[in-house]
Amino acid sequence: MHKMKGQWANRVSDPKEGDFFPTQRSFVDLLINTRLFKKGVKIWEPACGDGSIARAFMERGYSVHSSDLFDHGYGWTGVDFLKARKLKAPHIVTNPPFSLFDDFYHKSRELKAQSITLMCSLPCLGSSLRRYWTLWEPHPPQKIFLIAEKQKVLGKNSMFSHIWCHWGKGVSRDTQFVWLTAKQKPALLKE
Ligand SMILES: C[S@@+](CC[C@H](N)C(=O)[O-])C[C@H]1O[C@@H](n2cnc3c(N)ncnc32)[C@H](O)[C@@H]1O
Repeated sequence: MHKMKGQWANRVSDPKEGDFFPTQRSFVDLLINTRLFKKGVKIWEPACGDGSIARAFMERGYSVHSSDLFDHGYGWTGVDFLKARKLKAPHIVTNPPFSLFDDFYHKSRELKAQSITLMCSLPCLGSSLRRYWTLWEPHPPQKIFLIAEKQKVLGKNSMFSHIWCHWGKGVSRDTQFVWLTAKQKPALLKE
C-alpha cells in the first residue's frame, strides 16, 4: 500500500481508508456539462470511493468502470490503481488522494489513457516546487476548470476551491483556464 504523505484539512475519514471523501455531485455535473467527454465514451474511475463521480457519469449515459483500493461500498475493491497493468477504459476521471495526485497522473500516462481528468485543490497548483518541475512544467494540463464554489464537507464549506485538471493527447503549452459555476449571480451583484 502507498503511504499517505499529505493531509486534507477537510478529510472526513481515516488515512488508512485512503483519504476518502466524496466529491460533491454538482462538481461532477459541472465537469460533464463542459462536454469534454463525447456521449457514450468509456470512463475509468480508479479511486471511486462511494461512487459519487461514477454515478453522475452513468446517469448521464456514460459507461464507467469503477474501482478502489479500499471498500467504500461501491465498485471493484482491493484494486490498487498504482499497480494496475491494464487500462480498463480510455478516459480516466477521478479525485485521487491529494498525496497521490502526481502518481495517479503518471500511472494514467503509463497506461496510455486517452485523456486524464483529475480533481485537486487550487493550492495544489503552487504548493510545491518539486511538483512544478516534475508535473506542471513537463506535463501542463490542456485545461484547468476552477469551480467557483466551495465544496461542502459535512455541511461546511471546505477551506480551498477545487479544480479539474484535464490532459488530452500530446502536450499543450497553452493551458486554458475556465471558471465553472452552477450558481446564479447573487441579487446583490445584479445591475
Ligand atoms: C478523495 S477520495 C475520492 C473518492 C471518489 N473518487 C470521489 O471523488 O468521490 C480518494 C479515494 O482514493 C482511494 N484510493 C487511495 N489510494 C488508492 C490507490 N492506490 N488505488 C486506488 N484507490 C485509492 C480511496 O480509497 C478513496 O476512495
